[in-house]
Amino acid sequence: MTARTAERPYTLLSCCISLDGYLDGPAGPRWVLSGAADLDRVDATRAGCDTILVGAGTIRRDDPRLLVRDEGRRRDRLARGLDASPIKVTLTRRAELSPDAAFFTAGDVPKLVYCLTPLVAQLRARLGSRAEVIGLGDRVDVRRLSEDLHARGIRRLMVEGGGRVLTQFLIADLADELQLAVAPVFVGDSRAPRFVGDGDFPWRPDRRARLVEAYPVGDVVLHRYALSARFVATCGPAPPDQ
Ligand SMILES: NC(=O)c1ccc[n+]([C@@H]2O[C@H](COP(=O)([O-])OP(=O)(O)OC[C@H]3O[C@@H](n4cnc5c(N)ncnc54)[C@H](OP(=O)(O)O)[C@@H]3O)[C@@H](O)[C@H]2O)c1
Repeated sequence: MTARTAERPYTLLSCCISLDGYLDGPAGPRWVLSGAADLDRVDATRAGCDTILVGAGTIRRDDPRLLVRDEGRRRDRLARGLDASPIKVTLTRRAELSPDAAFFTAGDVPKLVYCLTPLVAQLRARLGSRAEVIGLGDRVDVRRLSEDLHARGIRRLMVEGGGRVLTQFLIADLADELQLAVAPVFVGDSRAPRFVGDGDFPWRPDRRARLVEAYPVGDVVLHRYALSARFVATCGPAPPDQ
């Protein structure tokens, strides 16, 4: 293992897609692809992470709270000296984020916003004390973002989407694990957001991702892939420092 990989958190990508590979419908009300049982599985995975990251597009489209829902899991985290839910993280180029989004208003946990350095002052003025705004220079590189999270003590990062964010983590070979739930529906409209966009992905016929397990959760099927040598089988507490 190189020193470089040790400087980023264990990174788990998680999402639910349609049978034709979409994350959502094309417009209108959001398509909820997961069922109740799978949402509970995602809640358990969240509870085992230090941080949840989503792109600004997901905040604008879904207005997610990104909190651990189950009271028992919240209590367990508090008993371990953690916040009831993980730290929330997002990234933006355009800085068009509303301070009233549930990302910022829900949950008494730290919220971090990564952006271009020239936008820091504007975003701080807009978000006030609701989030810490961090400039990463003239582009927000997801490897630098991951390394910055590690420097802040984050050891287990869950990336929940959307497609543009998932694509970057995969292409940069920053993902240790993929939890991909497949729902028994078709979206059938290429205007809808896909799981991933085009790119030079590390997993090809000569370097296949390793399927660790696949099982039904309600009517969706969870596929769990190990994407790096750092893969850790548990989805519970954070793995030790590597
Ligand atoms: N089914 C699921 O499990 C699931 C999970 C999550 C999301 N979703 C769906 O996914 C869709 C959203 O996906 P999406 O691909 O459109 O959006 P996204 O990946 O959530 O967010 C993209 C946005 O994030 C910011 N961003 C991404 N990379 C950046 C970088 N390197 N530097 C700076 N900013 C960066 C930009 O924000 P700015 O535009 O502000 O610059 C960009 O427009 C929604 O329909 C949502 O419902 C589904």
